[in-house]
Amino acid sequence: MDVTIFGSATEASRAVARRVVEALRRTPDVVLGLPAGRTPVEAYIELCRLYSVGEADYSRATAFLLDEFVGLDHSHAGSFRRFLTEHLLSGVNLDPERTHSLNGLADDLDIECERYEETIAACGGLGLLLLGIGVNGHVGFNEPGDVLKARTHRVKLLDSTRAENAGAFGGAVTRVPGEALSIGMGTILRAETIVLLATGERKAEAVHAMLRGSLTTQLPASLLQTHRRVEVYLDRAAAGTL
Ligand code: GLP
Repeated sequence: MDVTIFGSATEASRAVARRVVEALRRTPDVVLGLPAGRTPVEAYIELCRLYSVGEADYSRATAFLLDEFVGLDHSHAGSFRRFLTEHLLSGVNLDPERTHSLNGLADDLDIECERYEETIAACGGLGLLLLGIGVNGHVGFNEPGDVLKARTHRVKLLDSTRAENAGAFGGAVTRVPGEALSIGMGTILRAETIVLLATGERKAEAVHAMLRGSLTTQLPASLLQTHRRVEVYLDRAAAGTL
């Protein structure tokens, strides 16, 4: 994996934003994979700024959100679709019709996951996939465990992950849905290029295990070691134990 360490989270985030803009210039109809979470917020702010000064054009791009909570309407404050709308879609010319997300309110969640997987495939797969990483080494919502799923699937969230996400639910872990839908490890590993951003000391242990540890389903991000084109953008704190 190609690792770059930046002096601050802001610098790392800006570099990720520049990387996205470069991909858009090279491939205007790029298919993006986009995460929610606190980590990408600064990169999204920079992407909106670069768009506002005419540096980027998303008119031909397509995007897929990585995951979504089960049971939430897209207008709910904790919904990842709402997060993306607020942090990116409102500031760039990505067509909302071509910005795909999982519907956690679908009648049949298994059919919803299959629909998503097929839509990604019909668009030619993910071209540039942005990822964050969970403190426990999850990517998307592929949680550590004895097994991992290759395709988009329904996942039971670990209590620690629910606690990490409590902020958007008034700080109450019990209000965070216990399940989510997530693209699978296979969906992730089939992406052409993966750009993973990790910042802050809290991520240092997971980053170390991802880069230097054994491949294990107990740390899903470790499987990224098998991918040919992974760029890892870190600040000094997240790189602290390398
Ligand atoms: C969340 C999301 C991931 C995200 C990760 C880290 O729960 N499912 O896509 O990358 O956990 O989140 P954060 O950036 O807030 O630390």
